[in-house]
Amino acid sequence: MGQQKVLLNMARFYPLALHIILIPLLLWLADPTAGYKPIIVVHGLFDSSANFKHLLEYINKSHPGTNVTVVDLFDHRQSLEPLWKQVEGFRKVIYPIMQNAGSDGVHLLCYSQGGLICRGLLQTMPDHNVDTFISLSSPQLGQYGDTDYLRYLFPFYVKSNLFRLCYTHYGQTYSICNFWNDPHHHDLYINTSDYLAPLNSERLDPNATDWKKNFLRLRKLVLIGGPDDGVITPWQSSHFGFYDENETILEMKAQMVYQKDTFGLQTLDFRGAITMYCVPGVLHTMWHSNETVFNECIEKWLT
Ligand SMILES: *[C@@H]1O[C@H](CO)[C@@H](O)[C@H](O)[C@H]1NC(C)=O
Ligand SMILES: *[C@@H]1O[C@H](CO)[C@@H](O)[C@H](O)[C@H]1NC(C)=O
Ligand SMILES: *[C@@H]1O[C@H](CO)[C@@H](O)[C@H](O)[C@H]1NC(C)=O
Ligand SMILES: *[C@@H]1O[C@H](CO)[C@@H](O)[C@H](O)[C@H]1NC(C)=O
Ligand SMILES: *[C@@H]1O[C@H](CO)[C@@H](O)[C@H](O)[C@H]1NC(C)=O
Ligand SMILES: *[C@@H]1O[C@H](CO)[C@@H](O)[C@H](O)[C@H]1NC(C)=O
Repeated sequence: MGQQKVLLNMARFYPLALHIILIPLLLWLADPTAGYKPIIVVHGLFDSSANFKHLLEYINKSHPGTNVTVVDLFDHRQSLEPLWKQVEGFRKVIYPIMQNAGSDGVHLLCYSQGGLICRGLLQTMPDHNVDTFISLSSPQLGQYGDTDYLRYLFPFYVKSNLFRLCYTHYGQTYSICNFWNDPHHHDLYINTSDYLAPLNSERLDPNATDWKKNFLRLRKLVLIGGPDDGVITPWQSSHFGFYDENETILEMKAQMVYQKDTFGLQTLDFRGAITMYCVPGVLHTMWHSNETVFNECIEKWLT
């Protein structure tokens, strides 16, 4: 008898429960923008926001309504400006977007050189609210290779002697020299690199402790790269690997910056916050336009 009464009551209240709980839920589900954090995209060397047309289509298709900002700054040749200057410029545009997003936070998707600019932002913004940082084929531990970009920019140099130009005060006014990492002139790199060496705390900056704390506000780090990239050299730099003095690759966990946790990389890894994708068959200029890469390595992080 008691049980019957409960069932009766349930039957009577069920429609009410349906209205109170299910209808807002359905409305929320029907609102396609609900729940997707804004995405901020930072482009790479010699390109501009115009290069991300395909990426915008893929995001629109999989997560319609997501607010995506491809920051239109330091386009084309201006992308050669020194990286700290670019960090300042991008910060001015990105900070209000972060503030609008509030406690939900934003995602950063940064391509090639843009991935180093994003690290500069993450390390120097004490109140950033970046949930996931997707580093798309970025030379995170620097670059040491002969590429078309290099031949075009510095026709009188090759990788073995570019240190003579890059590791000077004048050289450091070029973004590419800011992350030029010649494994045969490591001391000189540490002494003269104005950007990557301090960012990695290979040369200690007075703000290094704060920078590490800021970087660790990040919830998730996604590193994407692959052996057929053709520009990032060694390609493992996109996974925080690099050459030793004999040009043997040391993977991330064998790097001093990881082992000494100089800027938080090891802490992030111990948190389980780092995911790496190694994708063969993708040329450097194709990473943001390849739909398979988007579907398999990017989409699921854009929550
Ligand atoms: C997203 O896709 C819809 C449907 O195809 C289209 O109408 C809309 O213009 C697209 N929006 C953007 C920003 O590309
Ligand atoms: C997208 O984000 C920008 C920056 O926060 C904001 O100004 C704009 O109003 C947003 N657009 C929509 C459609 O929500
Ligand atoms: C470094 O720290 C000083 C003093 O706290 C501060 O004024 C300056 O803005 C910081 N610089 C960077 C790049 O974080
Ligand atoms: C780097 O700087 C240190 C300290 O100023 C100096 O002793 C050393 O000789 C420099 N190394 C190179 C290769 O310039
Ligand atoms: C690089 O090679 C030289 C000569 O074979 C060797 O003495 C040195 O230990 C090697 N360095 C590293 C870091 O393996
Ligand atoms: C796209 O990426 C896949 C790997 O995910 C690769 O096999 C394919 O060659 C790529 N296509 C282009 C056009 O880059």
